Amino acid sequence: MASVRSSVQGWNTAAARLAVLIVIVLEALGLGTGWSQEPAQPRLDEEISKQDKIYQRRGADIPRGYVTNRGLTNYAELLPAGFCAALGKLGSSDRWLDIGAGSGQAILDYYVPEAGAASGENCVGPGAKARAVAMSIEERQTDKWREQATSLGGDRMRYLSGKRLRQYSPEELGKFQLITDVFGGFSYTEDLSQFVDKVLSLLEVGGAFYTLLPGVHLENDQDKLGILYLTELEGAAGRPEKVCSWLKKTTCAKVGCESKSDWKRPTELIKVEKVCSDVSVPRMKLLEFEAGYPPGRRFQLEQ
Ligand SMILES: C[S@@+](CC[C@H](N)C(=O)[O-])C[C@H]1O[C@@H](n2cnc3c(N)ncnc32)[C@H](O)[C@@H]1O
Repeated sequence: MASVRSSVQGWNTAAARLAVLIVIVLEALGLGTGWSQEPAQPRLDEEISKQDKIYQRRGADIPRGYVTNRGLTNYAELLPAGFCAALGKLGSSDRWLDIGAGSGQAILDYYVPEAGAASGENCVGPGAKARAVAMSIEERQTDKWREQATSLGGDRMRYLSGKRLRQYSPEELGKFQLITDVFGGFSYTEDLSQFVDKVLSLLEVGGAFYTLLPGVHLENDQDKLGILYLTELEGAAGRPEKVCSWLKKTTCAKVGCESKSDWKRPTELIKVEKVCSDVSVPRMKLLEFEAGYPPGRRFQLEQ
């Protein structure tokens, strides 16, 4: 990754070159330190704190690529087939969690359909609507959201901020029939396996998680040449692993992937159905993290 390259380029003293030479010789003799397998913690911490600053940017300072107000029509275009129908089928006692909701526009559109949206495009069924929870690290609620939530009353529309998904207890959140994530925690987290584990723990059996992951090796092998990957996974022995093949090793989960090789970045649209309660997600450890929107990440399967 770029930061790894730049830190190596910065080593311009003779002493640094000598140190590199010693490490190469030790590795060649099988006496390497093994450090290359471990993440450099101070650099990871620095990148993670840069990432925190991106979340907190406001107004004109928000980078153009950090979009926080996608509506329900965008969600229907970006998420796997079946999302709109699944949302439309929810009833008034069901619950929908949107992780990484930004301003919560998709949930707002669900309650107040966009003017001019054709029926079916707005994913809204004929009956009473599900209770919905928008979650964002940083607070981006709009006045319109507050007005609508107040007029509906109770907890029909809740907005949670100030924490990451992993920091909520099961009691604080409860269970959901439907969970979505559009360029939210799944694209941004530093702990991918813990994230998926938490999502599945919040789903009712029979419920589904709809998400997407940009800049990944595609299940259908149709990635174009010269791609800059954002999320790279590897197996315990260091061989490349695809996000879908990794997810498919999760117990009690039925995973479906739609590979989009003609998008700007190769993107996997992913649906994970929880089919029984004994979920176990193969653990991935973080090797590299580079702040961005979304960040660059490299993970390795633990033994
Ligand atoms: C680029 S915005 C996407 C917002 C919205 N989904 C959209 O498409 O407009 C990223 C969102 O993910 C949230 N996010 C990132 N990591 C998260 C995590 N681990 N838990 C909860 N929210 C997270 C951010 O706070 C922000 O709300």
